[in-house]
Amino acid sequence: MKTTTEFVNELNHKFFKGELPLLFLDKLALLPIDRPDVFAFVQRMFRNMHQAGVPATDMNLLQADILGTLLARILPGAWEGRVPPITVMGRHAEIDAYIKKNTWCSSGGKSMLDIGCGFPPYTTVETAAYLPDWHITGADPSLPYYLLYDAEGNYASFDTDSTIVYFQPAIPSIDNWNNLLKDTAATKKHFNDLLAELLAHPNDMGYPKLEHNPIASYETANLSFIRGGIGSVDAAPKDVIRCFNVLYYFDDSFLEKALTWFAEKTTEGGVVLIGGDWSGSTESYYNVYKKTDDRLINKAFAFSIDCICPLSIVTWYTNHDDDRQKKELIKYISMLRHNKPFMDAFYAYHDAQRLQYNICPRNAQGYYDNIDPNLQPQDIWLTASTMLKELNEAGLNQMAVNVLLDSGLQARVNEVGHIEVLV
Ligand SMILES: C[S@@+](CC[C@H](N)C(=O)[O-])C[C@H]1O[C@@H](n2cnc3c(N)ncnc32)[C@H](O)[C@@H]1O
Repeated sequence: MKTTTEFVNELNHKFFKGELPLLFLDKLALLPIDRPDVFAFVQRMFRNMHQAGVPATDMNLLQADILGTLLARILPGAWEGRVPPITVMGRHAEIDAYIKKNTWCSSGGKSMLDIGCGFPPYTTVETAAYLPDWHITGADPSLPYYLLYDAEGNYASFDTDSTIVYFQPAIPSIDNWNNLLKDTAATKKHFNDLLAELLAHPNDMGYPKLEHNPIASYETANLSFIRGGIGSVDAAPKDVIRCFNVLYYFDDSFLEKALTWFAEKTTEGGVVLIGGDWSGSTESYYNVYKKTDDRLINKAFAFSIDCICPLSIVTWYTNHDDDRQKKELIKYISMLRHNKPFMDAFYAYHDAQRLQYNICPRNAQGYYDNIDPNLQPQDIWLTASTMLKELNEAGLNQMAVNVLLDSGLQARVNEVGHIEVLV
């Protein structure tokens, strides 16, 4: 069996001409040798980056930290194969705006199913608040029966049979995750013991606290929830289906079946949005399907310009080699990255932003470095989102669209500033 160092060196030579810096490699040396799923994931990711034309100099040390210390904890392999209900506030803000402004939907109604909404269902709650005249239904197979917070605000969710489905630190920084996950058995015992204690002696004030069927507390006049997943939710057809950060856990045959089910659950003229994104609507990418004559028709593929040179890893995140959305995204990133005048303009603007905000700026050797250590996690992504908006305001999104138009594609800057390729 290969050692972690051998594995990392092999990938470095195969996909980055052996040019990844020592600091980056040192961080990857923390990848757990006993997790083949993690090794396969990193290999797939580096292959995708290579195909997209990403050079070693565009890999940043924040990504190396995420891969080395966080990735193994958030892959399904760490959760007995279950997809963790990870979500982050604000990640779908631009997708909500797109739904409000977009002209695809002609069904005339205002109902939406957010399938695989995650828990806590922050983004579904945000959508219901942003679209008050819509009715939003959130659905997820992992909606908890119990939600337990410990004294520090770290939480664990439990199934109907009191097994732990998932846990997460109060503030999900890399250090806080590592504290909870360095000894998973001990953390589970901590939460199990606390559950038994709070079931016997409920605490009505502050932390620790136990909530029963916690999803009910999120329901409002225009927001309801159902426990269940793709293919199993019993709901009337909706005008919009949103399925974000779910399908990249599954293979292409699952996606194909999901599309068939989405078609049944969409009203005629309605739309289906499937894709992924990260905090502050950074690293967004999605397909837009419209139901016409009883069938879902693929109308467009859109992505945010930061996918060309992302700070984090959602752009590359996928658990399967046959992920068709990743293939499409990589194809367009590659076209843009191979256009030198565009990349010169992109780097000139973007590298200056990184320097200004001290977020993974280029170092003296020409590599993207690390983040300002004083930045709080929420500030990192707020700034990343600001940088994305600035890139759009500077017209880099239109320049990217021009490159794609010159290549013979039909493309436009869509209503929320994303680069949209029309099918
Ligand atoms: C990473 S979370 C994404 C949550 C939210 N949509 C977001 O974008 O932040 C993925 C969610 O997919 C859910 N999931 C897993 N299998 C599913 C299925 N077959 N159908 C629908 N959702 C599923 C998981 O329970 C989990 O909550």
